[in-house]
Amino acid sequence: MRRADDRHLAPDDEAWWRNAVFYQVYIRSFADANGDGVGDLEGVRGRLGYLELLGVDALWLTPFFRSPMVDHGYDVSDPRDVDPLFGDLETFDRLVADAHRHGLRVTIDLVPNHTSDRHEWFQAAVTAAPGGPERARYLFRDGRSFGGSQPPNNWTSVFGGPAWTRLPGADQWYLHLFAPEQPDLNWENPEVAADLERTLRFWLGRGVDGFRIDVAHGMAKPAGLPDMPHQVGVCPSLLERDGADPRFDADGVHDIHRMIRKVLDEYPARVAIGEIRVADDAAFARYVRPGELHLGFNFRLLEADFNADSVRAAIEHSLVAVQGSPAPATWTISNHDTVRPVTRYGGGEVGLARARAMALVQLALPGPAYLYNGDELGLPNVELPDWVLQDPVWKRSGHTERGRDGCRIPLPWESGTSPYGFSATPGTWLPMPGDWAGRTVEAQLEDPSSTLSLYRQALELRQRHTAFTGTEVEWYGAPPGCLAFRRRGGGLVCALNASGAPVSLPAGQVLLASGPLRPIGDPLPPDTAVWLKE
Ligand code: NOJ
Repeated sequence: MRRADDRHLAPDDEAWWRNAVFYQVYIRSFADANGDGVGDLEGVRGRLGYLELLGVDALWLTPFFRSPMVDHGYDVSDPRDVDPLFGDLETFDRLVADAHRHGLRVTIDLVPNHTSDRHEWFQAAVTAAPGGPERARYLFRDGRSFGGSQPPNNWTSVFGGPAWTRLPGADQWYLHLFAPEQPDLNWENPEVAADLERTLRFWLGRGVDGFRIDVAHGMAKPAGLPDMPHQVGVCPSLLERDGADPRFDADGVHDIHRMIRKVLDEYPARVAIGEIRVADDAAFARYVRPGELHLGFNFRLLEADFNADSVRAAIEHSLVAVQGSPAPATWTISNHDTVRPVTRYGGGEVGLARARAMALVQLALPGPAYLYNGDELGLPNVELPDWVLQDPVWKRSGHTERGRDGCRIPLPWESGTSPYGFSATPGTWLPMPGDWAGRTVEAQLEDPSSTLSLYRQALELRQRHTAFTGTEVEWYGAPPGCLAFRRRGGGLVCALNASGAPVSLPAGQVLLASGPLRPIGDPLPPDTAVWLKE
């Protein structure tokens, strides 16, 4: 099972992911090689040198499978092929081989909760009679009330509106926790598991190093599909969770993770990380038990406000949730479903300073870190006009929730004007702001004070400096509004000043600061973090 290009990747490093920095490539927005305004696999391949220079260890590629793109690839019509918008299988193979040559592992998305409504299974289900095997791969039910005119239960879709759609002709209803074009699969049906196993082996055989599992707390549904105790509103950031919500975290989901893990265990050095949004730490812990996921995405840090108590609580919860399990905690402050950190933390210069500070907090913590493309450039969210919005959340919420397009703007590479080297066409799939010339990779690469330089230095230190050994976090006394922790072992100290006034520094040699330190008085300004070696 060894791959030809393993020699570039320390083949004996089975658990390479335990401390890896993953870089999420939102393919549509990363780099467009064929000039159609949408990023593609060849575009990613062309920028591998940049990713190596940045200093990340692995990529997470968002879905590039065949898809009508209603949810930009999270509606998969063929999970074992590449959508022509993004390239083809040969391009994918070249990308994996080249990434490995650059010392980068490649992980890809897996979408097991639902398919596209254009998937051949669903197409067959729609034309088949109720009760037949074609419908048994999805969750079809008769409606309630006279003539079945009401949905089978009161579940709402995460994207807004009911989670059920009725087939035309007074037929049955089918369940979709997301858009109607994303019917949920019936995981009680062994055909569904068998097909996922085929998909896993298909990509593992092509050399991928692992998977990010979409809606890893979904898939299994509780027997009888009981009503929700209350109506949960539209959840634009997809972060809402509730222990009493029967739509997610059903016990049966753990059998599915054990099945996936068994397959992965046949291949050396592969990893699965689940997108897990559950009620509490105890529920989270169940996903990373031995024999289940290697890693779980913990969104606590991403959800934390920019204040010391909130950040500290997020770190503590994330650590508690994996205590006693084989998994390290994972850290992220951003992804393609969430307002970008610069904007979330206040926008403008303050938001940028805080995002830079939080990047140092994130990267100081022991365990894998996930970066979202563009955060290394300090990109903010972009306010888009109504008519360009594409996220299904916008339509499904009756135009009350703007959705996630604002964090998915294409990346600016070269100075000049839009599209800043992202594409050969100015007609990019989402418009790029006219004032991003100073935020491009080119503009930031040689500027030692840029956010890109901060990330590069941070990643280099994290990789090479002995201070970053040690997997335990100890809290350090800190002034009100501030926090400081130490990694026991290597002696790295990370201090964050989220108060409104400058504070003194903990003892030690400064390794890196997220902004300029003050030469006189208390050196650590507000909205700044620093790394020290004790
Ligand atoms: C979570 C993904 O991150 C999000 O982008 C997608 O819309 C939903 N799952 C549905 O697949």
